[in-house]
Formats: sequence, C-alpha cells, structure tokens
Amino acid sequence: MRQALAARPGNHDLRLRLAGLLLELDGFAEVRELLADELSTPSGSAAQLLLAAALLAARDAADDKRAEALCERAVQAATSGRDRAGALALQAKALLRMGQTRPAEDLLRSALREDPGNTAAFKRLALSLFQARAFGEILELVAQLEAVGVSHTRLLAARAVALAGLGDHDEARSLFGYDRFVVHQSLPPPSGWSDSAAFTLALESAIDTNRTSRRNRFGTSSRQTWRIDDPLAGDNPAISALVAAIADIAADYAASLDEVTHPWVRARPQDAVLRSWCVIVEGDGWEEWHTHPHGWISGGYYIRVPDAVADGPDEAGCFALGLPGGLAGAAAAEGVGQLVIRPQTGSLVLFPSHGYHRTYPHRGEGRRICLAFDICPA
Ligand SMILES: [Fe+2]
Repeated sequence: MRQALAARPGNHDLRLRLAGLLLELDGFAEVRELLADELSTPSGSAAQLLLAAALLAARDAADDKRAEALCERAVQAATSGRDRAGALALQAKALLRMGQTRPAEDLLRSALREDPGNTAAFKRLALSLFQARAFGEILELVAQLEAVGVSHTRLLAARAVALAGLGDHDEARSLFGYDRFVVHQSLPPPSGWSDSAAFTLALESAIDTNRTSRRNRFGTSSRQTWRIDDPLAGDNPAISALVAAIADIAADYAASLDEVTHPWVRARPQDAVLRSWCVIVEGDGWEEWHTHPHGWISGGYYIRVPDAVADGPDEAGCFALGLPGGLAGAAAAEGVGQLVIRPQTGSLVLFPSHGYHRTYPHRGEGRRICLAFDICPA
C-alpha cells in the first residue's frame, strides 16, 4: 500500500485505506504524517476521524484538543445518523480526556439517539456514569436501548455491574452466570495427533514461527505480553485443528442451553464466527480486568502452562472471573465474588463474553501460552 501511494500520491482513497490499516497496527505517527493536511481542511470527512483517532492515541493535551476540533467538523459534515453518531462518540472521547464530562455525556446521549446500536457511545457513557456511581441511570439507559431492539454484550455487562453497585448482588451474580455457565475441561488431542504431548509441541512450534506476534498491543488489557493477532496465519495444521475443535465444542455447548432461561442465553446468536488470538506471557505478564464486548461466548485454550502454575498453591498464573472493584465498589466486587480457574496444559475454558476476567502473573520460569477466542454473532 505504501508503494502504491508513493506511485499515486494524489489518490485520496488509497491514502485513507493505508491510514485505516496503520491505525489497526498502532502506526499512529505514520497516520498523522499521512493525514497531516486534514488538520487545515475546513470540511469534515472520514479522513479527519481517522486522524482524530490517531491523535487521541498520543495522550497529549494539545492533541486531544486538535482531535476534538476534527471530530466537530466530521459531525457537521456527516450525512447519516450512523456517521454522525460515530463522529459524536469520538468527539466525546476527546472531551472526556479534556475533563469535560457533562458536555461529553450530552454528546454520547445524542450519539445514541442517532444510532442506538453505537457500542462506542454506550461504552463511554456507561463508563462515565459508573465513575459517577450513577447505577440507576445506567439501568435506565440499558432499558431504553433494549426497548428499541438493541442487544449487545456491553448492555448485559453494564446491567450486571449496575445491579451489583446498587447492592443486588444475587441478581448481579445470576446475570454474570459464573457458577452456571463457565466450563473448564481438558481437550483431547484432535485426530491426527497421537497424544497430547505431540499436539502441544506442534502448537508451540506454530506459535513460535507465527509472524504476526507483537509486544504490548495498544488498547488491550494485556500487560508485559506478546500477542499474536492471527494464529491461523500460515495455515498451520495443528492450530487449524485446535480452532475447529473449539468451534465444535462451543457449538455443542450453545446447543445444550436450549432449555435454559437467561438473558445471556436469549442473546445466543443463530450464526456465529470464531475470532482467535494468542496471548503469551513470561513471569511478569498479566491481563487487567476486561470483558469481550464483541463476543457472545469467549474462552481460552492453554497451549502451555508452567508446572508451577498447574500444581500451584495460590492464584499465581491463574485465570479469574469476577467484578473489578473500580467499577461498582469493593462491596459489589465482594458480593459478586471470584471464580478462580487453575489452567492446565491442554485445558479449555469457556465463559460468557460479558463476564469480567483477569489473569495473575505467574512470577516463575517458563511461558504460559493461551489461544484466546470470541464466538461473535455473525
Ligand atoms: Fe480476555
């Protein structure tokens, strides 16, 4: 794409596509360079939103201001409610950075009126309301959006957190469903592999030769971590067999919920796609609390777990589902409780995507390698 643009520097479409790609690859400085002219372009455009997103990644007060001005122009220029909502949601992000909470919340509400399904606007508004401990308002917002047919993973998570914040720990626990819907089992080696050890070695060698590995990805919950964005790149037979086996197990599990009445089960997609990535940590790496907002059911397969974790006495190296205290307070977190899962080499965890989870650094020798995945509504 760089070569193509060098040959045709006046091609705006090409410039935009390269900038979009670079934004996904954390190439923020290059996006700024590519789209520098947009800063002085008076009319709003998609390019200005891309530039605004790259500016917001810098976490610099002057850049936040520039990004806000770009978004404002994009809002004015938007020709559909959907585009306007997207620009408003990004403008609100800039305002939140600048400490202008109330105007940001107003913009986010406007964005949701324009496009009730805009998940970025919901995410930012809910977070702002959580910070204000406005749990009742969050429940109202969720109910309003559901009333107009919106359904996504963030809504379910927000309702559960707000209920916990209001002290209804039983209902929150039931909505998260950790005691009911979390599966941890060992996965037998797929046909073609004589035993688990051979399968593990084949997977590990595929991970070590994957060329999409990146350290400390921007905008993720991973800390001191290597991530592989696309484990299926390179068509490795072991990885392909693993992903196919996971898809089968998840589909069987989803089908087994036919008779269950629960809001999460009600949101079960008819058709789904599996998206996977890999998380590799040494002793100091871990994941902060997060959910998987794009998935319906998520999970991880442990390609390799150090023995000291598999047989360990404490939570080091473990995976935990619960509720972060920062969102709804310590009492809410305690009320929901934690489910700690001790991974084993070759074990598979499945959990509802709206469930908050984290991992603990294992502090020892060796690597913990996990193939993580989301099963997302198609
Ligand atoms: Fe996760």
